Amino acid sequence: MSERAAPTRGGEMRERATREFATRFGAPPAFVARAPGRVNLIGDHTDYNDGFVLPMAIDRAVWIALRPRPDEHVSVHSPDFGETLELDLADDTRGEGWGEYIRGIAWALRQSGRTVRGWDGVVTSDVPIGAGLSSSAALEVAAARAFAASGSFSWEPSEMALLAQRAENEWVGVSCGIMDQLISATGEAGHATLIDCRSLAARAVRLPTDMAVVVLDTATRRGLTGTAYNERRSQCDAAATALGVKKLRDVDLGTFEKRAENLDSVMRRRARHVITENARVLAAADALVACDVHAVGRLMNESHASLRDDFEVSRDELDIMVEIAAALPGCHGARITGAGFGGCAIAIVDGDAAGVFAAEVARLYERATSLRPLIYLCAADRGASIERL
Ligand code: GLA
Repeated sequence: MSERAAPTRGGEMRERATREFATRFGAPPAFVARAPGRVNLIGDHTDYNDGFVLPMAIDRAVWIALRPRPDEHVSVHSPDFGETLELDLADDTRGEGWGEYIRGIAWALRQSGRTVRGWDGVVTSDVPIGAGLSSSAALEVAAARAFAASGSFSWEPSEMALLAQRAENEWVGVSCGIMDQLISATGEAGHATLIDCRSLAARAVRLPTDMAVVVLDTATRRGLTGTAYNERRSQCDAAATALGVKKLRDVDLGTFEKRAENLDSVMRRRARHVITENARVLAAADALVACDVHAVGRLMNESHASLRDDFEVSRDELDIMVEIAAALPGCHGARITGAGFGGCAIAIVDGDAAGVFAAEVARLYERATSLRPLIYLCAADRGASIERL
């Protein structure tokens, strides 16, 4: 069965982390850090081209209950993985597994000149892993908040997001852009955020209260470390060079059309996606401000076609999900969200149609693919937080 309209589970995740902490460490935690996952309403594969994105932090998050330690050691338990890790933060040897996100953050913080102190902790999460909802960025940003608490340094959201991106790029080895970490650190409840990924200037855009954001997990998965993502990045950089600019952000559609003959057909399509997607993001932000949900939906449909045909990051299951969703009553538009290749699509739906929509989309998708999808109604939540107990 599909999971739909799940109640906010944040309270439950927080309780689980604090309860488990007391059981394992014999005393209550001193802090609880939280960092949310995200969905991107529109603007994919634009962030690493210095372009525009319109994501929102969601009401699904990573929680870390913790107690600072005086040394450079992290002892962290995950009830979800049934695993306890002992991490020596002074050791710079790269390893494998989820502990690397925490070690990578400690490394990036040290690189920035901060003194890193360890902690004992328990981590819980209700961000689905590998679905395109940024579970790894949420873990990185939650770990950064935990280190800020244990090391008593101030929390600078954008700077911390950049450090988390650096950890992912240089420690974990995934060449992601800034979108996921930045929205996890800076999101605002009830709002999406229009981000200029060159300047990191951000503008909160209120979401219409009668519009539901529905995340459609196709139950297919991708590996972001796979070559396809990095290959797209190189193709974009090559296209920018061939067009004589620093990044594809610097080209408008008119200029692109004049110079497109300098590009081979793959580069031309990659560039066209990025250039048209940037324009769609800005138009979608304006449409949201005007509460024109129908126009936002149309831009999302166009974005999906561009990601499918020009950027080639879709797959059959994502296309089927989007096609089913877009045809249902109350749905204004649907598209891939995040990197693509598998994972989630997103739809915007009239609030009062969302329940029926969720059930129908799940039923029709399962009938078409024999795969059982997960459907999440998501609210826009605030970015990372810390609570002192
Ligand atoms: C992943 C990356 C982001 C972004 C998206 C695609 O989520 O982490 O930086 O590039 O893919 O928009």
